[in-house]
Amino acid sequence: MTCAFNASLKSEQKCVALVSHDVQSNGFNYQLRDMKDIERDIDRELRKMLKESRIKDEDLFETVEEVFDKATVLALLVLKQRGCISKLSGVVSAGKEARVYLAKSKNDEDVAVKIYFTATAEFKKGIWKYIKGDPRYEWILSLPTHKLMSVWARKEFSNLKRMYEATISVPKPICVYRNILVMEFIGENGVRAPLLKEMADAGLLSSEFSQQIFKEIVNSIYKMYWYAGLVHGDLSEYNVMVNNGKIYIIDVSQAVKLEHPNSHMFLYRDISNIVKFFREELRLKTPSVDKIYYSILNKNESQLQAVIEEYEE
Ligand SMILES: Nc1ncnc2c1ncn2[C@@H]1O[C@H](COP(=O)(O)OP(=O)(O)O)[C@@H](O)[C@H]1O
Ligand SMILES: [Mg+2]
Repeated sequence: MTCAFNASLKSEQKCVALVSHDVQSNGFNYQLRDMKDIERDIDRELRKMLKESRIKDEDLFETVEEVFDKATVLALLVLKQRGCISKLSGVVSAGKEARVYLAKSKNDEDVAVKIYFTATAEFKKGIWKYIKGDPRYEWILSLPTHKLMSVWARKEFSNLKRMYEATISVPKPICVYRNILVMEFIGENGVRAPLLKEMADAGLLSSEFSQQIFKEIVNSIYKMYWYAGLVHGDLSEYNVMVNNGKIYIIDVSQAVKLEHPNSHMFLYRDISNIVKFFREELRLKTPSVDKIYYSILNKNESQLQAVIEEYEE
């Protein structure tokens, strides 16, 4: 179906609502192809309106003083139309390739919006080792930048989903569209939770609490491997958040499947980073990297618990 703007349709919102209604009234019978057609139609119309500056969604961008490129504005509007977000309300983190924003869902709950902007040469070089050898994604390196970032956002969403469904403590994935990922906000009242590194720097980790967190992280690595079939690949004190005594593992775009030729090397490195941090910065006695690594590969959860508990005071 197409969304024609005739006299009876005064606003673009109505048009999109009409399209969504049409999709819903078809029940479960609509085809994926139809969805794609509809998406393309919405896109085309929004793009046209954007060009004509007919969309001035002050509400969506009220408190964010930022100039987004047109494609990102468009994608944010589509996410709004889909009911994933209602308002962007501030920057949480500004990285080189991606920025994370605080936003409100349509039910006024806090959500985190991660927008991938640019693929620097450094980024492309950095992701090569995660992509090479993964038949699911090897082809993406030849994509133009904007497409690469969309695939990367989708990859993070699908990794998050796999992990979340495998009961690993990660932010719940909510929506993904183009270069934008919407997920559960980890924090309270719009303030993000601290990273594990920040907790340590602020002296907020008692030895008991450190021990508990260490155990949770090692168990998450195990579950990631055996329940989700993934290895994080960039695990460190900078990619673990601590909220109300509970850990959350974040930043999972680069996670690889077990079949990846380097998955064991990444697994070993993830464990090494974590062990090094707990030993050197928190002075915690921990099992050796090798002991943890082989207990995980042995697929024996009780052996792994015994290995960790051996060191508890
Ligand atoms: N779901 C989330 N809720 C709250 N804050 C988040 C969330 N995800 C990421 N952040 C914040 O944004 C920062 C950057 O996110 P991250 O996914 O690690 O991207 P990158 O390190 O690639 O820039 C994190 O260090 C954290 O402070
Ligand atoms: Mg990070």
